[in-house]
Amino acid sequence: MTPRKIIIDTDPGQDDAVAILLALASPEDIEVLGITCVAGNVPLDLTSKNARIVCELAGFPDVSVYAGCDRPLGRDLVTAEHVHGKTGLDGPDLPDPTMPLADGHAVDFIIDTLRDHAPGTVTLCPLGPLTNIATALQKAPDIASRIARIVLMGGGYFEGGNITPTAEFNIYVDPQAADIVFKSGAPIVVMPLDVTHKALVTKPRNDAFRALNTPVGIAVAQMTDFFERFDKEKYGSAGAPLHDPCVTAYLINPDLFTGRHINVEIETQSELTMGMTVADWWRVTDRAPNATFMGDIDADGFFALLTERLARL
Ligand code: RIB
Ligand code: CA
Repeated sequence: MTPRKIIIDTDPGQDDAVAILLALASPEDIEVLGITCVAGNVPLDLTSKNARIVCELAGFPDVSVYAGCDRPLGRDLVTAEHVHGKTGLDGPDLPDPTMPLADGHAVDFIIDTLRDHAPGTVTLCPLGPLTNIATALQKAPDIASRIARIVLMGGGYFEGGNITPTAEFNIYVDPQAADIVFKSGAPIVVMPLDVTHKALVTKPRNDAFRALNTPVGIAVAQMTDFFERFDKEKYGSAGAPLHDPCVTAYLINPDLFTGRHINVEIETQSELTMGMTVADWWRVTDRAPNATFMGDIDADGFFALLTERLARL
């Protein structure tokens, strides 16, 4: 199978970092055309720095990394230093990047790349708030029909929310952007908290990262050691949920996941439930399905794949 051409849109964040590492470690499955950064876990200057730190950690200093939107479409930026630390990549002590940012805005890179490649050949992989993707769709509506698929981490149904009782962070930060994306007509695959909360870095799994005894393996172990505190405290979970790497793993082996093609709408009016993904899991409405919403994961298979691929870097 020819590698799938993708753009990773991201707000690193330790879990974003692992998702990027998994993609770069999998050239037979994935061709990373570029990485576009967005404000989310931490402000844009840090997410665009962290993305380059990760590329250099992986040994890929030539990846084009673009800075994108520094705030949501219609709300003040909410960040998550309480989860990811002040730098957004707390845990390992990694050197500042030497690779520069690519010239130009991330939104223009997304638009130009979709227009320069044949329709249906480029997959967008948003791992943070959907501000860049929505801005590109607003600026160039023609790209919607050119997108092969949008495979994103965001939302939740049975799991509720992680930043409010009803909203997951990526959607909550920019609900207006999420609404634009979910109404775009592009094929969408959603990795919600319902799945990512089953992808927990338990101690044996963290030990397996560390046992790789490589700079990447040790850094990933240190990253997940750091950002598990939030979820352990809040949910009593057995380790850090590896949210974003579920997106990359889906591109490599979709059979690791099961879900339903259903209607998903975004709450953009009520402050009480702002950013909620209203997933019609039981198909109780006549709203047209617009997304494949994942509900389960083969967690052991996921971690076996992840560890095997990280060992390559
Ligand atoms: O809610 C989890 C998501 O929000 C992940 O993508 C994490 O990196 C943050 O962006
Ligand atoms: Ca993220």
